[in-house]
Amino acid sequence: MDSIPANRRFWNQISSSYQHEHDPRIGAAPRLWGMYAIPDAHLHALGDVTGKRVLELGCGAGQWSRSLAAEGATVVGFDLSEAQLTAAAGAMGAARYPLVQGAAELLPFAAGSFDLVFCDHGGLSWAPPHLAVPQAARVLRRGGRLVFNTASPWFEACYDDTASRVTTTLHQDYFGLNSITEGRGATSYQLTYGDWIRTLRGAGLIIDDLIEPRPDPGTPNDYNRTDPPDWAHHWPAEMLWITHKP
Ligand SMILES: C[S@@+](CC[C@H](N)C(=O)[O-])C[C@H]1O[C@@H](n2cnc3c(N)ncnc32)[C@H](O)[C@@H]1O
Repeated sequence: MDSIPANRRFWNQISSSYQHEHDPRIGAAPRLWGMYAIPDAHLHALGDVTGKRVLELGCGAGQWSRSLAAEGATVVGFDLSEAQLTAAAGAMGAARYPLVQGAAELLPFAAGSFDLVFCDHGGLSWAPPHLAVPQAARVLRRGGRLVFNTASPWFEACYDDTASRVTTTLHQDYFGLNSITEGRGATSYQLTYGDWIRTLRGAGLIIDDLIEPRPDPGTPNDYNRTDPPDWAHHWPAEMLWITHKP
């Protein structure tokens, strides 16, 4: 729970500049995943959401939530930062959906409330997974799915803090990734592949797939510099976990 106040402050502080820089690309089309804005139509991670109760865990300005609401899902946009939720409220389209403020570490929803819990670099990147994964599993109904995209351990281990870029050299200790200092006191989280599997299985989830999105050479990354520029075509920059509650 320790990182909640600092992460809330961090996202409140950067919300406006973050949206100014990234919203045009994140919000350009429905269902775009991650740093390389890869369409879900290519990855087939989320499936049909029509009529489903959906929780976006760390919805930011709601680019995903508003798309899914427009497709006929009953969506709740959930986020720690009031500035991010204000941005989501301002960008809400014709399909209205509720916004709730809170932390992925302690979800204010009854058990079994959702058919789908998902996020794209949201609560499962910014809350300790050993707390956030069991919470997500709890609010899913039996048969419901938890789908989420985060940076990969490869990406984190190859991140050169001094040069502020991802390279082909290992810079961080793979076994020591755990919590990652993001500046201004904020923290994001990463696990080894083995610890992700144990955390998901420990919360009672079945792992159906691990999609490693592979952008085509030349696909821009608007968040991080990489060396070489097509780094993510050669190594997995992100990982999309597809799981369900039996
Ligand atoms: C990178 S954004 C993800 C949102 C959107 N998919 C995007 O790409 O902009 C991360 C979001 O997670 C939210 N967040 C950070 N810590 C959180 C927590 N503990 N619980 C829920 N949301 C959190 C932040 O406020 C922020 O809006």
